[in-house]
Formats: sequence, C-alpha cells, structure tokens
Amino acid sequence: MKSLFRKIFAALASACLLTAWTASYAEMADLLKKCTICHGEQGISEESAYPSIAGIPVAVQVDAMHGYREGTRDCGPVMEMCRISEKLTDEEIVELSEYFAAFPFIRAKQEFDAQLAAVGAHLHEDYCEVCHGDSPDHADRSILHGQWMDYLRYSLSQYKIGARKQPPSMRRQTEKLTDEDIEALIHFYASYGAEEGEAASDK
Ligand code: HEC
Ligand code: HEC
Repeated sequence: MKSLFRKIFAALASACLLTAWTASYAEMADLLKKCTICHGEQGISEESAYPSIAGIPVAVQVDAMHGYREGTRDCGPVMEMCRISEKLTDEEIVELSEYFAAFPFIRAKQEFDAQLAAVGAHLHEDYCEVCHGDSPDHADRSILHGQWMDYLRYSLSQYKIGARKQPPSMRRQTEKLTDEDIEALIHFYASYGAEEGEAASDK
C-alpha cells in the first residue's frame, strides 16, 4: 500500500515538474524573442547601435538590466531597454543574462581607420588597459574589443555628459580624453573585428 502511494506520488510529482518545465521553457522562448530581435539570435547583434551581449559576464549584464529597470542607467537611443526591463522579474533578468553569457562573443567586422586605431592603441594602453585588457584577467568586465562602434560611441558620449554613471576610477581616465581621443579608441576596438564567422571570445 505504502509503495503504491509512493509510486503514485512520484508519478504526480514528475508530471507537475514536466508541466512547470514546459511552461517556463515556453515563457523563456517568448521572452528571448523580445531580445534577439535587436541583440541577435545568440547575442550577436547585426546593427552597430545595438551591442552584442554574447559572452558578457552575467554580473555585468544583471547590473546593466537593473540599471535600466531602476532608472540609474540611460536606456539608450531607442529607449527599448527601459520599456523591456520594466516588465522583467529579478529571476528573469538572471536567466536571460545566463543565457546570453553562455554564447561566445564574436567580434564585429567593421571598417576602421588604421591610423586612428594606432593612436587609440596607445591611449588604450595608457588609460584603459588596466581594467579593460583583452585577456582572461579581465573576463569579469564587459567587452570592448570588437564591440560595435556606434554603441561604443554612444556609451562614451553618455559617460562624457554624465548621463551614464561610471566608476570614479574610470572617470579619472576618461575625463582626460578629447573627442578625437575617444574616436581613436573606438577605431582601436573596432580593429579587433574578426573574419566573417570566426568566434573570438575575449575570455
Ligand atoms: C529595440 C532594440 C532592443 C531590444 C528589443 C532589446 N535591447 Fe538590449 N539594448 C539595446 C540598446 C540600444 C542597448 C544599449 C543601451 C545603452 O546605451 O545603454 C542595449 C543594451 C543592453 C544590455 C547592456 C549591454 C552592455 O554592454 O552594457 C543588455 C544586457 C541588454 N541590452 C539585454 C537585453 C535583453 C535581455 C533584452 C530582452 C529582454 C533586450 N536587451 C532587448 C537594444 C535592445
Ligand atoms: C579602474 C577601472 C577602469 C578604467 C581605468 C576604465 N574603465 Fe571602463 N569600465 C569599468 C567598469 C567597472 C565598467 C562597468 C562595468 C563593465 O561594463 O564591466 C566600465 C565600462 C565601460 C564601458 C561600457 C561598456 C559597455 O558594454 O557598455 C566602456 C565603453 C568603457 N568602460 C570604456 C573605457 C575606456 C575607453 C577607458 C579608458 C579611457 C576605460 N573604460 C577605463 C572600469 C574601468
């Protein structure tokens, strides 16, 4: 009798789990469609204004999403990040971030000016590399090497006018930069563009 009860209980429990799993899977798929439209199927965006988010550490993504949702980070030129994050729960934010973080970052192939990139290389070394180096030591940071130029240009302009908060230790470096320096840095990061289809994770 006892074992029959157990069997029924086990069957019921697994049926419930399956339903819950199917439901959350379907919900997740719906949710993902709201992101991939701009950020690409696997977090690799095809538009320069939309950052690729594949491979960006979970903590950085979660922090960004909270910033948009709680209004401490500017929502960008399309305002979509405000509208979308407003409806997300903390759990959904973590799940989405884990999803996109699991794909390799593919550096965007972009046209850049080699002379400007060379100037940018020196600026990067002097002011940015200590935190944004292209090595596993910096795998806990967002990815700049091979990120889309329009997105970087927008971010750096937002930092400059104070619309997006930056760590004080970063501000001490970015405030030394002229507009020309910023442009040079953007060309330097773009110069890391991969050959078509080549995955080049910064991790
Ligand atoms: C209409 C286009 C659009 C949609 C849809 C969209 N995003 Fe974004 N996303 C952007 C833009 C533009 C930015 C850059 C905003 C800024 O300047 O901070 C951004 C920024 C981000 C960032 C920060 C990246 C970084 O490097 O700091 C994350 C994380 C992100 N989006 C995740 C998502 C997720 C998850 C979804 C779906 C729930 C989503 N986005 C839907 C356009 C979009
Ligand atoms: C003391 C460490 C530090 C220094 C120096 C620093 N940064 Fe940052 N930077 C950060 C942190 C922390 C963040 C926010 C979290 C993250 O994106 O990893 C950030 C974010 C950024 C972002 C936004 C990335 C995104 O995906 O939205 C850009 C662009 C950026 N930094 C550019 C620069 C440039 C260019 C320099 C040099 C002039 C620089 N930073 C110097 C620590 C630093």
